[in-house]
Amino acid sequence: MPTLRDIAKAAGVSATTVSNVLRGSKRVRSEVAERVLAVAEQLGYRPNRSARALRTGRTGTLGLIIPDLTNPFFPELAQAIVREARARGFSVSLVDSLEDPDAEEEGIILLEEQRIDGAIWVPVREFRPLPFPVVLVDRLAPDQDGVGSDHEMGGRLQADLAVTLGHRRVALITGPVALESARLRAKGFLDLASSEMEVVWVAEAPFSEELPRKVRRHLAAGGFTLVACGNDLIAIGVLRFLSEIGVAVPEEVSVIGYDDIPLAGVVRPPLTTVRQPLRQIGQEALRLLLRRIEHPQASPVQVRLPVELVLRRSTREGLG
Ligand code: RIB
Repeated sequence: MPTLRDIAKAAGVSATTVSNVLRGSKRVRSEVAERVLAVAEQLGYRPNRSARALRTGRTGTLGLIIPDLTNPFFPELAQAIVREARARGFSVSLVDSLEDPDAEEEGIILLEEQRIDGAIWVPVREFRPLPFPVVLVDRLAPDQDGVGSDHEMGGRLQADLAVTLGHRRVALITGPVALESARLRAKGFLDLASSEMEVVWVAEAPFSEELPRKVRRHLAAGGFTLVACGNDLIAIGVLRFLSEIGVAVPEEVSVIGYDDIPLAGVVRPPLTTVRQPLRQIGQEALRLLLRRIEHPQASPVQVRLPVELVLRRSTREGLG
């Protein structure tokens, strides 16, 4: 079994840096942290969890509380987090809250019974204090550690593409506006779109491919050449509905999603979308959680990561 020194030598860094990466005790530049984790894996490093538990009084188990595993965004996010946790010798206990506050509460009680060291949490609704250290992901709350994408930037990228492609009459389907992440995307889109184009309608939908009747009615009425969607599942629902009513994408209507879930590249036509940096979100969340566990009194930190536009074939120039 390699020691911290072996890893340090192979990665060309100090043993303290290796310890900081593996225990998450201090921030280390992400290229360096990635190199250390890769070397640790190559050399077959396995932290001695029972020794650590005896030394620290901790269990080496983290909780991961996710609102909806049927949305492919969340399994991918979960995998990014599990990968990071494993590399540092933690196991992860997963709760799917089924978008239901009662199911979420039951899951939290189970995690407490398992005496987890802390949890990464995407809340179904609002934040409330939990009986263990927590880092919020995706759905952030004021004065709490949190990691998420820059959703306002994401909405702006959607609108910017519509402007660049010369669209003049556009529509927006937001996610549930009770969620800040959905509101910020809508704000980013509308701030730019309203000054450059006519926003023909804005409607709200759950983060799902099942579109509410009101949204279907708007889509069927026409009068717009591009629709931006609150996430990829909504966009996939739009592709399906437009195909059912005989509207060609992108010839008659362009569609933009948000997330870049694996399905986005597979549907017909492949979806132009905004990619969220899941791997980085996982890394940052783990780093903040380990910091919170080590330093319960530290001031809260929020990290907003940039998103990027992924151009595929569901968008084309506006026809005026
Ligand atoms: O809450 C669900 C949505 O928010 C996901 O599809 C993803 O967009 C996340 O940020």
